[in-house]
Amino acid sequence: NKQIVLDLRETVRTVPGWPIEGVLFRDLTTLMKDPHALRMSCDILFERYKEKKIDKVVGIDARGFVFGAVLAYKLGVGFVPVRKKGKLPYETLEKSYDLEYGSGTLEVHRDAISAGDKVVVVDDLIATGGTVSATVGLVRELGGEVIECSFLIELPDLKGREKLVGCPVFAVMEFD
Ligand code: PRP
Ligand code: HPA
Repeated sequence: NKQIVLDLRETVRTVPGWPIEGVLFRDLTTLMKDPHALRMSCDILFERYKEKKIDKVVGIDARGFVFGAVLAYKLGVGFVPVRKKGKLPYETLEKSYDLEYGSGTLEVHRDAISAGDKVVVVDDLIATGGTVSATVGLVRELGGEVIECSFLIELPDLKGREKLVGCPVFAVMEFD
């Protein structure tokens, strides 16, 4: 039962110039494919929220589904997907947002969150914070209480957390 000591940061791949010139893209697929890194990441999130009486985990399309679903399973609570527009089949609430490159609209099912639900929002990465602040807006509009927004990676130079007024932000790692 050898103990695995691992620098999680080293499992993240950096791809310069993707999807556009000038961006240093932090690619988490290399973290996800490493079984120890995947487990360590999910365990860090679980340890942080296990005593917080969370009712639901909200995961953001698409990479937030990977970590959010594992966290929901480990906490023994339900998982709610916030999706890019046009994917959810039932009645939705929607919000538009700006991205580091481009813009979009997110949707959630109106019956996915009940008033008073304590929610943790999970995504792989916070850059400008546009995606997560739209998500927090959707959760709050449905009466949910966002306990914290949680990420594997924060890009602090892009000041995403400043968009999240009154909402704590946690990130496992930071990159320039
Ligand atoms: C990425 C990332 C976050 C968001 C962060 O997703 O997974 O959701 O961008 O950027 P922001 O803080 O500037 O809003 P992307 O929109 O590329 O979608 P994907 O997960 O479907 O690839
Ligand atoms: N990596 C992954 N997703 C992202 C990034 C990044 O560097 N920037 C904005 N979304």
